[in-house]
Amino acid sequence: MRTTQRITIEQIQTAADLLIDGKLVAFPTETVYGLGADALNPQAVAKIFEAKGRPSDNPLIAHIASLEQLKQLAREASPLAKILMERFWPGPLTLVMDKVADLSDALTAGLDTVAVRMPEDPIALDLIRRVGRPIVAPSANRSGRPSATTWESVLIDLDGRIDGVLCGPPTRIGLESTVVDTTTGEPLILRHGAITQEMIERVWSSCRSSSSHLGPISGSNGPTPAEVPLDFGRRSPGTRHRHYQPKARVVLFDSIDQLGKLSGAVAILGIAPKGDIPAIESDLSEKFPGAKLCVCGSLDDYAGRLFEFFRECDSENVAAIFCQRVERSGLGRAVMDRLDRASG
Ligand code: TXA
Ligand code: MG
Repeated sequence: MRTTQRITIEQIQTAADLLIDGKLVAFPTETVYGLGADALNPQAVAKIFEAKGRPSDNPLIAHIASLEQLKQLAREASPLAKILMERFWPGPLTLVMDKVADLSDALTAGLDTVAVRMPEDPIALDLIRRVGRPIVAPSANRSGRPSATTWESVLIDLDGRIDGVLCGPPTRIGLESTVVDTTTGEPLILRHGAITQEMIERVWSSCRSSSSHLGPISGSNGPTPAEVPLDFGRRSPGTRHRHYQPKARVVLFDSIDQLGKLSGAVAILGIAPKGDIPAIESDLSEKFPGAKLCVCGSLDDYAGRLFEFFRECDSENVAAIFCQRVERSGLGRAVMDRLDRASG
């Protein structure tokens, strides 16, 4: 056990000093809170796996604040990687690239590639700049648990296991970054996030149609990023492991009428874009007395509240959480991916 320092934003230099000293500090990003360590210090990187209880075959994302820092991690970016970073960095997009020779195996789990992201959150960028080196940061939760979107949730999982937490605001997006493998020429989405498949497709097809050196567009509708190829598990080690699971059982449904009669300590997470949320919630509480309710007004709202709702349900000993399915397009793919895993 160690003491986990609560560090205010005004004390950000304390967080940077701890990281420079090889310690572990959680910090906010626009997606979820990350558990930071100096990416170029193998002992510091190794401590992350211990603190999270993370399997050693699951590699980490290195976070950078400038393209200069990319050179310490990855070899020359492919044309695809260049296009995606130009369009989406800084932001919630992680690119898998060919790694430089001398990176620690702990960071990459022995793969030839490294995952890199330039976050857009100003606190995260400031912290990385102050450290002056890339920072690895997996989501700041115990392995297998929902990611933390507030510093209080970070402490529920990691108090006494890490050296500090930078106490910033709740994260804006609430789901982890999109992960794209850029090493095969075509974008291969390994994890869905707020940079959606449609956004990546649009950028990729417009670049391919205007640059002959990127090769012809395959098919009349332009190329589509390949999804879930046969070797997906090998390429995206994170997908092999249990993930996003609250203690409660998660059950998915399409419409409220399907729910029938619910008994015991249950929760319902629903979505009603453009609906009258208070009216819907009051109907629901009449129909399902005692149920913990959360009705979201938009897909962004649903994505942003999902993990925190799971965590609240756990702290209130809810036995089953009923979550409404959403359409698998745009951000809906990222939401459904988390719901599928949580309920699987
Ligand atoms: O939004 C995020 O990405 C957050 C914040 C803190 O930046 N971080 C995050 O890290 O979600 P983590 O460790 O929970 O998820 C990293 C994902 C895992 O699924 C891992 O398998 C994948 O990235 N990954 C890392 N390196 C990889 C590589 N070389 N090839 C393929 N997948 C990789
Ligand atoms: Mg994670």
